[in-house]
Amino acid sequence: MLSIFETLKSIAFAVDEAIKTEDLGYASGRNATGDDQLKLDVRADGIVESILSQHPLVYSIISEEKEEELIVHPDGRYTVCYDPLDGSSIVEADLSVGTIFGIYEKGKLTGSGLRGSAYIVYGPRLELVAAVRGRAPRHYRSGSEGLFAVRRSLRLGEKGKLNAPGGTQKYWLPEHKAFVDSLFAEGYRLRYSGGMVPDLHQILVKAGGIFSYPGTSDKPEGKLRALFEVLPFALIYEAAGGEAVDQRGRRLLELVPSSLHATTPCFFGSSYEIGRFKEAYGVNDG
Ligand code: AHG
Ligand code: MN
Ligand code: MN
Repeated sequence: MLSIFETLKSIAFAVDEAIKTEDLGYASGRNATGDDQLKLDVRADGIVESILSQHPLVYSIISEEKEEELIVHPDGRYTVCYDPLDGSSIVEADLSVGTIFGIYEKGKLTGSGLRGSAYIVYGPRLELVAAVRGRAPRHYRSGSEGLFAVRRSLRLGEKGKLNAPGGTQKYWLPEHKAFVDSLFAEGYRLRYSGGMVPDLHQILVKAGGIFSYPGTSDKPEGKLRALFEVLPFALIYEAAGGEAVDQRGRRLLELVPSSLHATTPCFFGSSYEIGRFKEAYGVNDG
């Protein structure tokens, strides 16, 4: 597992270079979820595929940008599910974007089969966060010598100050609107860029708060994809001492996605905010 995390460092530098230098326009295709693809989505996907598929422990890879699983080493141990470029809609505005990885035991594409996860942030600095269950996530930041470990570990406090509410407000359920409003009434500050990587990363670095992407009247199962986006962050949030639950208050790490590209509502935060969410939604026993 640790050697896979090492491989992610070379992916970070290669994708960062592509983001900084290559064409930001649209490609001709759509991905498996029906999103228009940027040339950069396709390029980042190609970089991740070519580097990850060289690692002998990787049995297969599954990309948000591809329909199907690609088997690369029949004797390998893990299936790596990844979102090569998270934040396609904001890259043009030069906001931070990311890459997300979930490392699953092969044949076990479920929350319980997830063994480790990581994400890269392409921001003013290049950063990498990697975690296995039960250990505080490791945080790396770029410097003149490459990516080095940041000394302070990523740990969520009991309660934070940031609120990152996703989705179109017009389609929020009344209980969601009431919940979000109540956090603002309590003094929480809005921090939402439209990229889950920098938005969730900010909450981790500032040690507390909540990010939500609920089921809405237009998207009852939410927007964010379980295998590539939601489960990897669920593991990282739990490893940092936080919580990650679905709309019924159930641990996301117990989720069994119905298909490779299935989405799920999701709520990530420190324990106080997740407790408040459960109260607001009436899912206290979840
Ligand atoms: P992607 O660029 O991989 O399609 O993912 C974008 C996601 C996620 O990063 C973000 O949190 C969410 O879309 C934002 O959606 P809304 O604009 O609906 O809030
Ligand atoms: Mn994404
Ligand atoms: Mn993406």
